[in-house]
Amino acid sequence: MKRDLLGLAELGRDGIVAILDLARELAPHATEGRRKRVDLAGRTVANLFFEASTRTRISFGLAARRLGADVIDYTASAGSTQKGETLVDTARNIEAMGVDVVVCRHAYAGAPHLLARRLRASVVNAGDGAHEHPTQGLLDAYTVREALGRVEGVRIALIGDIIHSRVARSALRVFRALGGHVTLIGPPTLVPRTFEKLGAAVSWDLDEVLPEQDVVVALRIQHERQDAGLIPSVREFARLYGIDARRLERMKPSCAIMHPGPVMRGVEVTSDVADSPRSLVLRQTTNGVAVRMAVLKWVLGPEGQGRG
Ligand code: CP
Repeated sequence: MKRDLLGLAELGRDGIVAILDLARELAPHATEGRRKRVDLAGRTVANLFFEASTRTRISFGLAARRLGADVIDYTASAGSTQKGETLVDTARNIEAMGVDVVVCRHAYAGAPHLLARRLRASVVNAGDGAHEHPTQGLLDAYTVREALGRVEGVRIALIGDIIHSRVARSALRVFRALGGHVTLIGPPTLVPRTFEKLGAAVSWDLDEVLPEQDVVVALRIQHERQDAGLIPSVREFARLYGIDARRLERMKPSCAIMHPGPVMRGVEVTSDVADSPRSLVLRQTTNGVAVRMAVLKWVLGPEGQGRG
């Protein structure tokens, strides 16, 4: 049986902990090209990105290379999907050149699941529509564990455009699975009460709940996935839900600031907050390499045989 990573729900607590522990083991090799490993020597990882990406795409490429794998990068804007080839045909043709893992980012929720059914290669979801971004959730949990020593019992606020955010859905799943207390914060149009059914608290008043939090994760407004009119204006959103120096003062002195990137400075966080010593934004990016090394090893590990 091949192994895919499509979402965090199917991974469960034990799977999440196994990947985070493996990432910790691999971390010394993640950021030092000189300490390359050979775990995936002879294997090939294909990055199929149909949406823009900086962090996820580059860190999957680095993760694969630092484990000794070959890497193929498919850029949708320069590939034959532009001529009308389907996603599945594109992926099967790339697989036919000898690929063990397909990493897929797509605007449509379920696109990686479709590929997982049609390919012999393992498929890793690198973000599908507003559905899931499992490796982001894992690296967020890794970063909280690294900074605070645990996730269990930690109060974590996810702030912003929750309804359109795959990062929020994966973060909620991973933090809940590890025993964190999650509060979702934003305007009612972007944070409906239905999220309570997933085990999160919902608040529309940032200033009321901010002083209790141990970690705040600010999220970008996903303009590409939302209709106009859900917020009065970006300036109004920033006034009510942006983290600035004034709000930083009201937070616990130990409260960490996180953001998956890309950061819209002056909207979700001001520059002084994004660059403050309490910001873990660049730690998240660094940790993404080790976590993605762990994910690639996990899908191709003893139980995951790739194309065999
Ligand atoms: N956090 C994240 O997914 O960033 P990219 O879109 O740059 O990959």
